[in-house]
Amino acid sequence: MKKMITLGIETSCDETAVAVVKDGKILSSEVSSSIHLHSQYGGVIPEIASRYHVEYIYPALKKALSDANVGMADIDLVSVTKGPGLPGSLLVGIAFAKALSYALDIPIIGADHLKAHIFSCFINGKHECEIDGKFPFLGMVISGGHTSIFYCRDMDNFDLIGRTKDDAVGEAFDKVAKIMDLGYPGGPIIEKRAGEYMGEDLIDFPRALLQDSNDIDFSFSGIKTAVLYHWRDSAKDESEKTKVCRSFQDAVIDVVIKKIKRALEIKNTKRLAVGGGVINNEALRRRIMEEAQTLEVELFLPEKEFCTDNAAMIAAIGEKMFKSGKRSDLSLNAEPVFL
Ligand code: KG4
Ligand code: ZN
Repeated sequence: MKKMITLGIETSCDETAVAVVKDGKILSSEVSSSIHLHSQYGGVIPEIASRYHVEYIYPALKKALSDANVGMADIDLVSVTKGPGLPGSLLVGIAFAKALSYALDIPIIGADHLKAHIFSCFINGKHECEIDGKFPFLGMVISGGHTSIFYCRDMDNFDLIGRTKDDAVGEAFDKVAKIMDLGYPGGPIIEKRAGEYMGEDLIDFPRALLQDSNDIDFSFSGIKTAVLYHWRDSAKDESEKTKVCRSFQDAVIDVVIKKIKRALEIKNTKRLAVGGGVINNEALRRRIMEEAQTLEVELFLPEKEFCTDNAAMIAAIGEKMFKSGKRSDLSLNAEPVFL
C-alpha cells in the first residue's frame, strides 16, 4: 500500500511551523519564530505575529519539503491548526492550507492545537508516533496560553476536567520575569535563575486552590501579585532575583504536581501525558518523573523539540484523524476547517 504523506501547518501564535509526516514518522519539522520581534514588549503582539506568518510561511514550507526530501506533488493530506490561538495568526495558516488543498486537489484536516500538544507526547525518540493502545489517559497542556487537564478517552473524546481560571502557567512565568525586568519569554530565564539560587530559605508564595481535594482547576493570578508586592519592597539585587525565581518556580511546580495527582486519582488512571512549552522546564520534568515512578504511572513527555509550538504534532494528529475517517474539506456542507 502506498505510504501516506501529510503536511502539517501551525500558525496559532508566534511560531510559523511546517512539518512533513509519513505514516506516523516525522520526516521534517521546520519552526521559524517571531519571538525576537515581541521580546521588547514582554509579550506577543498579535499583529506582528500575523505579519510574520505571511512572510515566513512559504519559506518554512520549502524548507520542510526539502528536509524531508519530498516534493509538493507527493503530499496526500494537509493538516492545519484550526484553534485555539490568535485569530489573525490562525487565519494565515488556514488560508495557506486551504490554497494548497485546492491547488493540489488533496483533502484538508483542521486540527485542535491543545489535542495536538497532548499528541506530541507520543512522538518517540525515533520521531515515530505511537499513541495506539494508550487510551484512556490523563492529558495535560501547560503552555503560555493554556493550563488544561483532559481525560482522553479516545481520539474523538478529550474531556476537559480542569483548567486555569485566570493566567496560564507559562503566562505567569512570563509576567513574573517582566516584573523583575528579566526579559522575554520568562520561562527559560526564570528556570536558569532559579537554578542559580544556593540559599536555603525560600519565600512562601501562595499555592492557590488546594483546599478542596476535588478541585483540579488552577489560578496563578494571586502568586503573580504576591511576587509583584514582594519585589516592590525588596532589595532588588541579584541574590533576591534568584531567590524569587526559585521560590516562584517551586510554588508553581508544587501546585501542578498536586493537581496532577488529584486528577489521576479522581479518574483512576495510571497513564499521564503532559505537553506544552512549560514542560521544557527541567525541574518540573524531574518532579513529574519522580511522582510518576512513585505512583507507578506510565508517563509520556514530549521530546524537547516538540514541547513548544510545532507542526509535527499537527501533521501527526491530522494523519491519525484522517485515517480514522475524520474529514474537513473545502465544500460548505463538510465540517468546516475554521468557523
Ligand atoms: O507551547 P508554547 O510554545 O506556546 C503556547 O501554546 O502558549 O509555550 C510557550 C510558553 C511561554 O510562556 C514560555 O515562557 C514557556 O512556555 N516556557 C517555559 C520554559 N520554556 C518555555 N516555562 C517554564 N520553564 C521553561 N523552561
Ligand atoms: Zn501551543
